[in-house]
Amino acid sequence: MIPNAVLETINAHRQRYLDDLLDFLRIPSISTYSQNSPDIRNAAEWVLRQLKRLGFHASLRETERHPIIYGEMINDPSAPTLLVYGHYDVQPPEPLEEWTSPPFQPSLREGFVYARGATDDKGQFLTHLKAMEAIMEVEGKLPLNVKLLVEGEEEIASPSLKPYLEKHRLELGADAAVISDGSQFSSGIPAITYGLRGLTYFQVDVTGPRIDLHSGVFGGIVANPIQTVTQILARTKNEDGTIAIPGFYDDVIPLEEWERNEMASLPLDEESLKDYLGVGELTGEKGYSILERKTARPTLDINGIWGGFSGEGAKTVIPSRAGAKVSMRLVPNQKPAHIERLFRDFVMSLTPKDVKIQITTMHSAEPVLIGRDKPGILAAERAIEIGFGKRPVYLREGGSIPVVNWFKETLGIQTILLLGWGSPDDGAHSPNERFRLEDFQRGIRAAAALMYENLI
Ligand code: BES
Ligand code: MN
Ligand code: MN
Repeated sequence: MIPNAVLETINAHRQRYLDDLLDFLRIPSISTYSQNSPDIRNAAEWVLRQLKRLGFHASLRETERHPIIYGEMINDPSAPTLLVYGHYDVQPPEPLEEWTSPPFQPSLREGFVYARGATDDKGQFLTHLKAMEAIMEVEGKLPLNVKLLVEGEEEIASPSLKPYLEKHRLELGADAAVISDGSQFSSGIPAITYGLRGLTYFQVDVTGPRIDLHSGVFGGIVANPIQTVTQILARTKNEDGTIAIPGFYDDVIPLEEWERNEMASLPLDEESLKDYLGVGELTGEKGYSILERKTARPTLDINGIWGGFSGEGAKTVIPSRAGAKVSMRLVPNQKPAHIERLFRDFVMSLTPKDVKIQITTMHSAEPVLIGRDKPGILAAERAIEIGFGKRPVYLREGGSIPVVNWFKETLGIQTILLLGWGSPDDGAHSPNERFRLEDFQRGIRAAAALMYENLI
């Protein structure tokens, strides 16, 4: 059990921990923009300094893109080892005009800190460092061995991490891994996540005529790439909301009765969800509840589309090029590589000969289901109860974290704890992303308490 003195220390250093979070949030570590690579490096070095200050044996590990920070503190080789994972990169903040305060100038309002990365994942990840800081201050050492792995490519699907894990398998061995990169079920209802959706993400580029053309002079004899793209994309979904790609559902494991009952027992408020989203109606596949649709059923979404003229006024033109970004969220046991094959075949089968098409795979991540019958899961339950004053519920989440399967398959880690201190209305990836200061505090307490529980 966590000593009271540690909890008191966490409380006493509220302001200091928050100041550190604000510093971290000021670094615009956007992983997808190459112009931000100096910021990415600054964020990595910021994390490294924190680890060294804590007494970790830590270093930056260069990769083809963004550095990984690895650190360890091995106190007692016979004690269990916990691997803590986090990501210091963030999503782009655009559209900037939607932000009340600038995304990289953290602003405190009504009990929240507003900034890109506040909840995803800087704020949540930092709870683990601050938890260890408090423990070190009170006890001079940690109650177990800790390995820390922090990456800067999570938001671009972790391309360097898989080869890194393969190469450093031995160094990274651990009894359990913890990832705080999800969320509570809702503010005040903490959760343990036992499922994540996977992802496969494509760019589709269509080229028609060599140059943009006068639509009067040439209209009627050339294919219009925008129409080709939209016609193909329109065919990917049926009117009832299901995905029309042949074979798409073949490997989907149906939800079991107990799971559907458990999901139905969670207090999801449809009205306040619609309110938050600013929509009059929710949509999706018939026969499945909202929670099932958003966490345990696969989806297909067009994430962006371009082509032709969208400036002021009107221009009579047939564009030379058009394109779209399309992604699918996958559920167990769908395999991203197989879905990629199906998607490519489907799009090619619908592509007329009068255009050229190119399909590029951008990202992928495997879906995840984690067994709940592990001692580590009970340890997390108790820790969360200490941190949040409430027992957690069990959740599947709709987002994706590529590393989870690699921890299992490449490192052979049997216990993976997917935790989350934020809340679904924190606005991850949205304008005005935020993190409740109280959740930061509760998360630090839970992260500290976890270190004293029996993980194996
Ligand atoms: N932290 C999220 C994933 C997440 C969100 C887990 C909500 C559980 C609940 C993560 O940073 C993320 O956004 N992942 C990307 C992954 C992709 C780029 C491979 C995602 O889900 O879009
Ligand atoms: Mn994240
Ligand atoms: Mn994210």
